[in-house]
Amino acid sequence: MRSLISILDFSVEELDRLVATAKDIIDHPENYREKCRYKKLATLFFEPSTRTRLSFEAAMLELGGSVLGFSEANSSSAAKGESMADTANVLSCYADIMAIRHPREGAPYVAANNATVPVINAGDGGHNHPTQTLTDLLTISREMGRLDNLTIGLCGDLKYGRTVHSLIEAMARYKGVKFVLISPPELKVPGFIRFNVLERYGIPYEEVLSLDDAMPELDVLYMTRIQRERFDSLEEYERLKNCYILDPGKMAQAKKKMCVLHPLPRVNEISVAVDSDPRAAYFRQALNGKYVRMALILMLLEEAEKNPVRQTVDTSGYLTDRICTNPKCICQVEQELPHLAKLTDPRANIYRCIYCEHKV
Ligand code: NCD
Repeated sequence: MRSLISILDFSVEELDRLVATAKDIIDHPENYREKCRYKKLATLFFEPSTRTRLSFEAAMLELGGSVLGFSEANSSSAAKGESMADTANVLSCYADIMAIRHPREGAPYVAANNATVPVINAGDGGHNHPTQTLTDLLTISREMGRLDNLTIGLCGDLKYGRTVHSLIEAMARYKGVKFVLISPPELKVPGFIRFNVLERYGIPYEEVLSLDDAMPELDVLYMTRIQRERFDSLEEYERLKNCYILDPGKMAQAKKKMCVLHPLPRVNEISVAVDSDPRAAYFRQALNGKYVRMALILMLLEEAEKNPVRQTVDTSGYLTDRICTNPKCICQVEQELPHLAKLTDPRANIYRCIYCEHKV
């Protein structure tokens, strides 16, 4: 059985296949209307969401299936102290597939290890957001006609922005991709992206402060929100919240053929005056999210039918004596979970927590 916890769970061929299926769904929706008849998707959302949850639900309904679930932690037994493992185990009795969003990093990974149906990570803390990345890939492919040979600017909160982390992990595997990372020094990409992906695979990237300077070279500009809920200090959030605002003046510096993406919600990092620019693709991107999630649900359900056996984690090479200190990691609140660390960089002898990927 397959789950989608990190975008690295899928090969480039599989990503391309999902994008192709999503395009086929767009062209021939009638062929897909009955594909998930009698199948149920559970949406377990322990954190706020509009697009991700509703696009998952719309996706399953358009495949002829049904949906059940909850949209806030307080209305589930997690409020009574139920563990992620038990929740996943129980939900497997009621649904054929589940999508989980959780403020704790690594929570969907724990769920996947305990569920007997496929689990989809719909966003875990400031860590990963692989289905947003599928949405982004479909959007870039439809807007630009390709996924390779692109200069991609990522702007805003690159530290806590889970959409950014998963997008870099995906795009770094396409040929000729270069990243321009535009952020204040406090919000640069974290180590698990810098060292595990960019440095390890020799991906060309530059880190800059100025969005104006970067504009002329970009094929894709990925704007992000400065996320108040991820900051430990409200003061720091207040200081950084308006650090980038994309406006028509900046768009005038950009290539004629380029596109602007944003996972949404936007606060004020893109002025509404940009919305009418044909290069503003963020609302088309939100629609793409539904189609690519249809493709994903189909793929995971087909795989589960072919191979219903749950994947087991081989923990034999992991260290148990390194304690994760990331306050947002699932292992901080679930006492039963063993602290497990994996060697990610043998040259520098760097170990990372298997749940949240913080250095331990
Ligand atoms: C993003 C998320 O939740 O990480 N939104 C989304 O899923 N479309 C980005 C954000 O909340 O800023």
